[in-house]
Formats: sequence, structure tokens, C-alpha cells
Amino acid sequence: MCGVVGYTGKNQAVKFLLDGLQTLEYRGYDSAGVEVVSPSGNLHGVKCAGRVHTLAERCQAANLVGTCGIGHTRWATHGAPTDRNAHPHTDCSGRIAIVHNGIIENYLELKRYLMERGHEFKSDTDSEVIAHLIEEAWNGAARGNLVEAVRVATERLEGSWALACICADVPGQLVVTRKGSPLVVASTTDGAYAASDVMPLASVTSHVIQLNDYDIALLTPDGAVKVYDHDDEEVHHPDTIDIDWDASAATLGGYADFMAKEISEQPEAIERLLKDRLGQHGIELDELKMGNKDLAQIDRIFVIACGTSYHVGLIAKIIIQTWAKIPVFCEYASEFNYEDEVLVTPHTLCVIITQSGETADTLTAARRMKGMGCKVFAITNVLGSSAARESDGTMDIQAGPEVCVASTKAYTAQMVAAVLLALRLAQANGSMDQQEVERHYRDLQQIPDLIREVLKRSWQDQQAAKLFRNAHSALFLGRGVNSTTAYEGALKLKEISYLHAEAYPAGEMKHGPIALLEPGFPVVAIVPADHVHDKTLSNIEECIARGAQVIAVATDGDESVAKLCQHVLWVPPVPDELLVPIVAVVHLQILARYVARARGCDVDKPRNLAKSVTVE
Ligand code: M6R
Repeated sequence: MCGVVGYTGKNQAVKFLLDGLQTLEYRGYDSAGVEVVSPSGNLHGVKCAGRVHTLAERCQAANLVGTCGIGHTRWATHGAPTDRNAHPHTDCSGRIAIVHNGIIENYLELKRYLMERGHEFKSDTDSEVIAHLIEEAWNGAARGNLVEAVRVATERLEGSWALACICADVPGQLVVTRKGSPLVVASTTDGAYAASDVMPLASVTSHVIQLNDYDIALLTPDGAVKVYDHDDEEVHHPDTIDIDWDASAATLGGYADFMAKEISEQPEAIERLLKDRLGQHGIELDELKMGNKDLAQIDRIFVIACGTSYHVGLIAKIIIQTWAKIPVFCEYASEFNYEDEVLVTPHTLCVIITQSGETADTLTAARRMKGMGCKVFAITNVLGSSAARESDGTMDIQAGPEVCVASTKAYTAQMVAAVLLALRLAQANGSMDQQEVERHYRDLQQIPDLIREVLKRSWQDQQAAKLFRNAHSALFLGRGVNSTTAYEGALKLKEISYLHAEAYPAGEMKHGPIALLEPGFPVVAIVPADHVHDKTLSNIEECIARGAQVIAVATDGDESVAKLCQHVLWVPPVPDELLVPIVAVVHLQILARYVARARGCDVDKPRNLAKSVTVE
């Protein structure tokens, strides 16, 4: 969702602001803008609906000059995605400008109050109230002190915000603050920087400062960053993280798009995650920060997540229950947060799964579980994220930056993390002996090479994608762990190709979706060599009998599938049927990408979607 950047220093601000916004494009947005303090001591800004490259052209035409500025990519919540609603927003005097990520829940009440006091609004956004509240404070007791003005203004806000503010009367000062939305800052010899996440900062530093909720930071052109906490005390040693992603990790590196690059990076990502996990006493998962005794006591697990990460949760549920014999409830965070009864026990563990670590619903759920006394363990790809910081233990899946909005390498790495967790739990509570644990770990170690093999077969997906040329909809079917593969395959197709797709456990097809089938209707059926193979095969027969075009995902050498289906995406044999989803889904990722490209879609930046869903 919205991206925030800010810079004050020796250099022209616009270059970093535009580069930074481009790096944040992956978060999803529909308009963009920048504002700088010009050498004449006024604010000078450009904003527009559309892409950052359009903004860049307009900035060049407007000759935006200044060494202190802020920038924003907006994902519309309040007000249509128009030039007028794009950020930055200014106060009535035009001397204070802000950019904001989050939602101001009490904005209507604040807007009414401000209008009564004579403020004039230029947009339909919730965010604009912030500029006017800062103006009120600036014109009152806080005059001359931008930090104080921001503090007074934000005290009136309800909701969430990552906020950056500049004021023409104190040129060079950049004030930023956050509550509930991500924001990091950095101090360098060239100046001080702020951004929604570490990606725009990777090219300027390897060391970033993390702000806590309600911290306010003053950034000045000498590169200094002063952080003040909620009580206005200076924080002398703010939390820092080292960025271990080099800037090139977020470049295309010769690939046509990030999705292609990230799909191909899966084997290495999983190898990184599996490295050194088997020690003398079995699986090592020190990140859990729980010893054998505590782990052995866990008698219930809530796995909570959204979207693709929720699909990982469904697999985690099956694997943990099968191996560690612990009952698992897998919940959509957005649903869980409004459930009245949450049946926790004194030994309930909560596992949140979130690639970005910033998904608002998932964070709310984690806080709720913490409030009920549960330990929270996060599986995430972003170590400095809110999920990582607020959880009792965090597993960094180490997939590297995932730029494409549609998750691919994070999905498979999260699945591997969930499998490791299942093994660790099974080992601690004695459901598995060490030999068994080691055997499963060895199986897991084969996954990267099996994925490499699927990657070599992408021509099969390219062929199959042609079957979607005239399709309006598609059905994905699978059983057991692979019903989840079906859900994920359908989600990938919907997200990036805008083709409607539904997924069902194959046995459920007869209870409704079978009515959709007609000649030529594409059905993707996941039918690996497992204990439900023959049942799924019968469902495939039912589809074919109604003229559907079945694309099967099957195990090499499966003659029954070869005889029945013209189109097969072949998967090499996987040593354990519970691990098949990690390999089989790669075909569905590649298939979705081919379908989307054939339909002329931007696979990396699908419409309406945001990479990091930071509002509920
Ligand atoms: O960052 P998270 O894993 O918490 O994100 C959850 C979903 O928003 C995300 O998985 C979404 O469904 C992706 N676009 C999937 O490709």
C-alpha cells in the first residue's frame, strides 16, 4: 500500500524521492507525488494519478529543485485516485506539506472541526486533515518547532499513520512519525532518509533505524536523526537493523519481470532456509525462543494469516497435525479478529505467517492472541517488520526481497518454514524419534532440486497457457494438502491475469461447481501419486465427461493420467506426499504468469493490489 519517502541533505532531493518511489512501486499504488522546499524558501510540488515514470516526467518539466523533500505513492482508500487526491497534501498557507500511509479513522470529525475553524480542504482524503492539524499547532504554541507541531497534531489522530512532514519556514527539517504503519529512517554523511521500508534505503546505507509507534524523528541536512519517544524523551539508542539485501537483489537482472526472477530464485531461497538446521539433537529452530519443555507442552496452535500466507497456514495445519499430533486451527486474520470466542488454553501457541510482516489484519490478530497470554511466533520475510518485532520468536524465511505483488518464492519458503516448525514440535513432544525427524529433513533437502526440475519444464506451462485464450473462468481442483495447491493456483491466476478462477477440494466439485462445466472449460487438477490419487482421477473423469479441458499436475510416469489428459504438467517424484505442494505449485505459478502475459497484463503490478496491506 502507500509508500512514503523523505530526504534532507547535501544532494537534490528529487532524485532519491523518485528512485525511492520507484522502489516502493511493488507495494501497489495508483498515484504519486513529491514536494520539496525550493531555494526561494517555498514549497514546490508535483503530483498526479498514474505511475512514477509519469511523475518523473512532470518533475523534470517543472524543474523541481531543493535538498529537502517528501514523496508518496498512494493506494486510494478515501477519495478516487485523482491528481487532486494524490499526496503530498498542504495546509491552507501552502507552507506545510505531509505524506501519509495509513487511515485516519476520525477524519470526518476532525475535518468538521477544522472547517469550522476556517480551514479549506483541497482533496477528499482522510490524510489532508493532518496538514491542517499541524498548521493549527504551528500557528499556536508550537510555532517554530516542527517536532512539537507534529506531536500536537498526531495526538488528535485515531487510526494508523506513517507520516513525513516538511515546512517551508524551517527549510531542511524533515519530521517523521508512525503509529501502526511501517517507517524506517537512516543517517548518512550525505543526509538523512526516511522510507516505508528498507528497500529504497538499500542503495544508500546498510544500517537503518527503526521507529516504534509514536516515536517522532527529526532529520536534518547534516544527516543527523534525533528520535523522541511517546513521552518526548530523546531515544539515544534507537533500534537498528542491518540490511543484508544488496540493492541489486531488487533489480531485474536480465529477467523480463520480477515474477519470473522470483519464481526462478525458489531453489536457492529454500536451500538458504534449510542450511544448518539439523544439529546433534535434531532440528534446530532457535528462533522459536522456546525450549523442549515449553514446546512439548503446546496443546493447541492457531495459525493466522491472509491471502497466500493463509494457504501456507492450511498446509501447516495438516503437517503439524500429522507429525506433531497437535490440533491446529487455521484462521483468516480478517475473520479471526471479529470472532467472539477464541478457545485458547494455557499452552496455546499462535503462529502468524506474513511475507511482509506488515499486514494489518495479521498484526491485529497477533496482538489479540498476545493479549490472551499466548506466545506468538512469526514466519516472515522481513526481519525488521512489525510482525518480527512484536512476536516472541521470529523465523526469517530469507527469501530475499519479493518485488512482484504476487507472492511466489516467499510462499514456498514459508511452506518450508512451516515444515521445519512441524518437525521441531514433533521432536519436542516425542511424536517422532530423531531418526524419523532426520529422514523428513533429508526429504526436505531434495526439494530445491525438484523445483529446479520443474523450472526446466516451463515449456509445459507455456503450452497449457494457450488453453486459457478464450476462457472466462477456470476451476482448480485438488485433494488433501493439494486442495491448498489448488487454492494457491487459482489465487495466482486471478491476481495477475484478472481471469476468474475458483478452487475446490476435488470431492466437493459435485456439490456445486460441476454446474460450471461446459465444453472447453479449463480445469486444473492436481493429481500427484498419493493416497487420494484414484479419487482425484475419478473427478477428472467427471470433468472430461462434460467436455472440460483438464490440465493435470501429475507425477512423472503416471500412465493413468497420461491416458486420460491431453495436457499434463509433470512433477518429478517427491519423497513425501505432504511435501508435494512445495514442488507442484511452481507449475501453477509459471502457468499463471504465461496466461497473464498472453492477456497483456503487468504481472508484477496487478491492478488494485498492494504488496503490503497495511490497513484493515
Ligand atoms: O505480507 P503477507 O504475507 O501478510 O500478505 C498477505 C496477502 O496480502 C498476500 O499473500 C497476497 O494474497 C498476495 N498478493 C499473494 O500473492
